[in-house]
Amino acid sequence: MEIFIDTADVAQIRDAADMGVIDGVTTNPSLIAKTGRTLKEVITEICQIVDGPISAEVVATDYEGIVKEGRELAAIHKNIVVKVPLIADGLKAVQTFTSEGIKTNVTLCFSVTQGMLAAKAGATYISPFIGRVDDIGGDGMDLVAQLVECYSNYGYETKVLAASIRHPRHVVESLAIGAHVATIPHKVILQLLKHPLTDSGLARFLADAKKTASDAKKAAKRAETAAKRAAKKEATAKKNAAKKKLKKTAKVTKKATKKKATKKKATKTKATKKKATKKKTKVSKKAAKKKRKR
Ligand code: E4P
Repeated sequence: MEIFIDTADVAQIRDAADMGVIDGVTTNPSLIAKTGRTLKEVITEICQIVDGPISAEVVATDYEGIVKEGRELAAIHKNIVVKVPLIADGLKAVQTFTSEGIKTNVTLCFSVTQGMLAAKAGATYISPFIGRVDDIGGDGMDLVAQLVECYSNYGYETKVLAASIRHPRHVVESLAIGAHVATIPHKVILQLLKHPLTDSGLARFLADAKKTASDAKKAAKRAETAAKRAAKKEATAKKNAAKKKLKKTAKVTKKATKKKATKKKATKTKATKKKATKKKTKVSKKAAKKKRKR
């Protein structure tokens, strides 16, 4: 099923187009009036946003007027679909537009017989107004179903464009029935997108992701502290080893000095003793000599 957006608000159109979910746009005189701008201005801007069928509605109700307005609208852009009311002059104009290769959207359809006539006239799209049928106690979806069946039974090329959609249920049923297109207000497109389980699931994923990030941060902090502690320990160990080495060197030096001193003292003592012995010998020799002389 193709999705058109049912609005003349360019911000809403841009938003939906940016999501890539719309194939075209439908407008009507009431939607254009809400913008406070002219139909031509708004339609021209919409054509720059969406590359797909853009419905622009005529306000004339006589054949000549509808044809004149429709041709002017069609001249704005190749994607313009002229929206025509489902009245006798409207169907005559549809036939003219079809022969000129101008696409049409026949609007304000409330019965399958109206839809059949629009298809016979060569309408590109027929717009059954679901919500407005529901508003008066009818069954808008039943009208869509009848049109889909009628066109399928007889091979009409006109596409059923489910319009006046008020809520997601209308979209769900349009899909089930096999409507070719649904034109949906921006608000309802957003409702189609929304699901409480998506929201709660996303909230949980984000909370878990936040927890993972904080756990990772804590782990990184722990690793940093451990690395700092290890570096400090290593530095202390190096310092102590250096101190120990220094102490050992000092001890060895002291020992060597002491040994040297002891050796020097011993040498000195030996020399002194030798000298004393020598002196004693000399004295003894002298005494012996003296004795001999006597
Ligand atoms: C779109 O082509 C119709 O003009 C539109 O869906 C009408 O919707 P409404 O009944 O909510 O005004």
